[in-house]
Amino acid sequence: MKRIPILIDTDPGVDDFFCIAVGGAFSEIFDLRAVTTIGGNNYTEVTTQNALDILSFLKVDAPVAAGATRFLTREFDEPAAKFHGSNGLGGLAIPHSPNKASSLPAWEMMYKVACECEGELVIVTVGPETNLALAIQKHPDMVGKVKKILAMGGSTTFGNITPYAEANIGNDPFAAKIVFESGIPVDMVGLNVTHMCPTDEALFDSFKKDARQDVIDFMRGLIRFRAFQPILHDAITISSLVDPDFIQWNVCNVHVETEDAEHFGQTVMQSGTMHRVAVGCEKERYYKVFENMINRYR
Ligand code: BDR
Ligand code: CA
Repeated sequence: MKRIPILIDTDPGVDDFFCIAVGGAFSEIFDLRAVTTIGGNNYTEVTTQNALDILSFLKVDAPVAAGATRFLTREFDEPAAKFHGSNGLGGLAIPHSPNKASSLPAWEMMYKVACECEGELVIVTVGPETNLALAIQKHPDMVGKVKKILAMGGSTTFGNITPYAEANIGNDPFAAKIVFESGIPVDMVGLNVTHMCPTDEALFDSFKKDARQDVIDFMRGLIRFRAFQPILHDAITISSLVDPDFIQWNVCNVHVETEDAEHFGQTVMQSGTMHRVAVGCEKERYYKVFENMINRYR
């Protein structure tokens, strides 16, 4: 089987850690071409260092490119320390990587990788979509060069930063609007589905684990930190590429609200065939992918 070339655009981030871990684990499925970073869960300098540290810790080889240091129309907010700890990784210590970020900014790395992959690239975006919007704006021909965007973001039901808006979309709705209207097909996995698959410590302990002890301990530490809300949104999202049928999708268009103040950042399904929005999932199948992922880190 031909491997899927992927680029992960991320703001690590507790659940982003697990997304990168899935992307790095299944090397027979994924050709991880690059990791690009954005601010969201923490500032871009912090999420960039975290991405470098995570890849080194997991012994996964991929270039890292730092992204935008502000959203399209405003500065970043404070780090989301309640959900990701003051360092973005649950306050846990992780060895400092000796590696440095690429000299290319995230949007140029996206474009370069998209050109190299000749229409096959899947961009997995699990943070605010600012870098993607910049890549599309600067390089309109990106549209024909990316096979699909797989996005953790939005919701068909409730939000998490407002009653209607989810963080990745709601932090930069103008960027998300550019992405959803670009002509690149998006598979959107939102809160309505990620909340169906909690990963708490009891579940983690029930997995059969034959992996590096430091990796198991770090993963358990992250999951313990998130005991109050054990939803690893970004890991669930990328797992839909490992087991393509565990999520049920609705084919539709997606409107991102940028005008109405109350609904600012909401994603609304509309009639059309441009995108797919996750509407259900079989969580046991996701847990199989997760357990399998852990045991790739020997
Ligand atoms: C999304 O926002 C971030 O806090 C998480 O990493 C995830 O990508 C969930 O709303
Ligand atoms: Ca994220």
